[in-house]
Amino acid sequence: RPVVRPAEPIKVVVTGAAGQIAYSLLYQIASGAVFGPDQPVYLHLLDIAPMMGVLEGVVMELADCALPLLTGVLPTANPEEAFKDVAAAFLVGAMPRKEGMERKDLLAANVRIFKEQGQALDKVARKDVKILVVGNPANTNALICSKYAPSIPKENFTAMTRLDQNRAQSQLAAKLGVPVKDVKNVIIWGNHSSTQFPDASNAAVKIGGVEKPVTAAVNDDEYLKSTFVTTVQKRGAAVIAARKMSSALSAAKAASDHMRDWFLGTTDRWASMGVISDGSYGTPRDVVFSFPVTISGGKWKIVEGLTITDFARQMLDATGKELLEEKQDALDVCKD
Ligand code: NAD
Ligand code: LMR
Repeated sequence: RPVVRPAEPIKVVVTGAAGQIAYSLLYQIASGAVFGPDQPVYLHLLDIAPMMGVLEGVVMELADCALPLLTGVLPTANPEEAFKDVAAAFLVGAMPRKEGMERKDLLAANVRIFKEQGQALDKVARKDVKILVVGNPANTNALICSKYAPSIPKENFTAMTRLDQNRAQSQLAAKLGVPVKDVKNVIIWGNHSSTQFPDASNAAVKIGGVEKPVTAAVNDDEYLKSTFVTTVQKRGAAVIAARKMSSALSAAKAASDHMRDWFLGTTDRWASMGVISDGSYGTPRDVVFSFPVTISGGKWKIVEGLTITDFARQMLDATGKELLEEKQDALDVCKD
């Protein structure tokens, strides 16, 4: 039999490792669902000093899972230790929104974390590290993190809108009575906030083995412009109202989907992710804006040539405006 050499382990950091999202995410990473079934991982777990006791319990549970791909675990409260030589970073650690709060209420509390972590990544991470910001306000935190890590390419900082994409895909599948996998290319544009634009105008659905536009299958323009959009925009708040805590299981699944597509590539469908804007589709430059992308060889590329209707234009402009305002607020906070 040919000798197959096992892949070298990659170092992967998860911040907020003692929190809700991490509790679902760590198993997915350590079991091979993100980096592939043949890629061993060494997990670095960052949280704040008062959480080290809880984190110790998480470390015990990871050991008790007896996962063949998990080659080691480093729990720490020191960002420079956590980010040393990592190839992938899930930046989850931040305060979550409570009932009645808007995401912008979190900005002042959370943005400083991403300034400090940007500085630490800049010093010690691999220069090709792929960074996914989950902690809210995710787009603006990713921008700030990048600003304080100038030696790492801006393309390597992304924000999570995959949960919104998954929510949108699931809503459409339920509306059409088809399996969720049969809906593809729903786009999330802009901010991971209530101004985001979930856009079904390029989405396709497979019905009876034949692919057709979602717009034709739904045949209800009013639904696609109103109920569909607001349901997805407000889904995070609806989960908070029901659970009294923000989404965690679905957020962890989305984080896995995002990083898996980034490392292993997209296949027959687009992914939406917050990436540094180059002004595509008339969006503001230098904000982290969610676009549809395809990914190959670890590099994402914005899908080009889509038609933007008057309705879409208004929606893109509104979410772009909010991102510019958040950017200004965040830069003001970082000056202090
Ligand atoms: P949580 O409160 O359960 O856990 C957060 C953890 O982060 C805590 O253990 C906390 O001690 C830790 N933490 C705080 N400051 C830290 C720092 N400076 N360094 C390292 N760790 C730190 O919250 P959660 O439910 O896991 O949510 C985490 C974040 O993800 C929140 O900001 C939430 O709003 C956000 N979120 C984003 C999305 C998205 O789609 N982008 C979805 C769901 C939740
Ligand atoms: C979500 O979308 O579920 C999270 O961002 C949590 C929130 O504050 O909405």
